[in-house]
Amino acid sequence: MVDLLIRNIGQLLSVPLKPKGNEPCDKIGMIKNGALAIKNGKIEWMGADCDVAKNISGSPREIDAKNHVVCPAFIDAHTHISGYPYGRADDFEVRIFGEESYAGIARKGGGIRTTIQCTQQASDAELQRVSGTILDEFMRHGVGTLEAKSGYGLEKEHEMRQIKLINELASSHAMTIIPTYLAHVLHSSISREEYVAQIVKDFIPHFAAHVKCVDVFCDAIAFSVTETQQIITAALDKHKFVSIHADQTSPFAAAEALAPMGVSSLSHLENISDAGIRAMKENDTIAIVFPTCSVHLNAPYSPYEKFVEAGIRVALSTDWNPGSSPCSNILLVGYFAAKYLRMPLHEVLRSITVHPACALHLESHLGSLEVGKEGDFCIFELQDWRDLFTQCGNTPRITLYKKGEVAFC
Ligand code: NIG
Ligand code: FE
Repeated sequence: MVDLLIRNIGQLLSVPLKPKGNEPCDKIGMIKNGALAIKNGKIEWMGADCDVAKNISGSPREIDAKNHVVCPAFIDAHTHISGYPYGRADDFEVRIFGEESYAGIARKGGGIRTTIQCTQQASDAELQRVSGTILDEFMRHGVGTLEAKSGYGLEKEHEMRQIKLINELASSHAMTIIPTYLAHVLHSSISREEYVAQIVKDFIPHFAAHVKCVDVFCDAIAFSVTETQQIITAALDKHKFVSIHADQTSPFAAAEALAPMGVSSLSHLENISDAGIRAMKENDTIAIVFPTCSVHLNAPYSPYEKFVEAGIRVALSTDWNPGSSPCSNILLVGYFAAKYLRMPLHEVLRSITVHPACALHLESHLGSLEVGKEGDFCIFELQDWRDLFTQCGNTPRITLYKKGEVAFC
């Protein structure tokens, strides 16, 4: 018997995965005047509200959606929520007046290294508390699943501490969390060859049981393409899926070298080359892009129109981190994507649901509302779903369900 029945849904959005390729497809699977039935945390039935009596027996608990919008809970496939969230105000001010760039600050030993210091100094309890608050913020804007990276530890024991923190949050918070080890910056007191060797031979085998994914910051201010390839090979050998920060601060020919290795996704791509786009297309690599990061750093936007032309699937993400994108509002990301990447609103919706589900290999049970998938959905007090993305930072009233239970309201 069904446990929960959501009735009187003005717009029920399934948001299924569209077929591969670049044919335009504006279908988001909308049922007007719909109903959604949940059994044992999974979607048992969905359809028109007038068909409820024919399809649902017994007397399940009923919720009246009051003619509002129901859509899949959102998924953010790229965050750095395990770092200490403050301490980068100097960087911000310097960049406002154009005195220094993000890469310039990093070259002088600031940026990510400042956050490594702040994170190392913070107690476990403090990090738990601040990261938990950030997760609540994500839920307030409709995110039910997110990926969380380490990367502010540097040394093995500090990276492990961050991974542990992420796994503790995964078991104590209602959010579904996918843990990732991120090789973020080079060590300043040992040679780069030695540090990469440590990552390959020691860190990755040691972390393998505690993470699902491995990431590398492949950039002129971090790991080279060759070093990144060594780390990817080690990660794939341990059956981890791989997602790489690529071509962010300058053209680095990273995407064309890394996509053929079988990485699941590449992130940033503000400076991707045409050869990189071809390689992503040929290897069916997902592009994860961050409009709020471009806003925050006065950096170029990732070339969304070229991705669409090539039939590359795009996921939008906050890239939450204290330095380049301190933003936990995925709806604001959608607003910026619409305005600055010129993304149609139905694509914005797909890019925060089913596409990030694919990037995290979760599409068999999350990312869209379909029979058999988990009952992870949001009820938004809206008449028209498009108003999710017409607001500059305002979030409508929301109830977020995880496996058919209220997780946030
Ligand atoms: O995705 N650029 C690399 N990593 C993060 C920024 C981290 C930081 O600045 O603290 C990013 O933008
Ligand atoms: Fe990032």
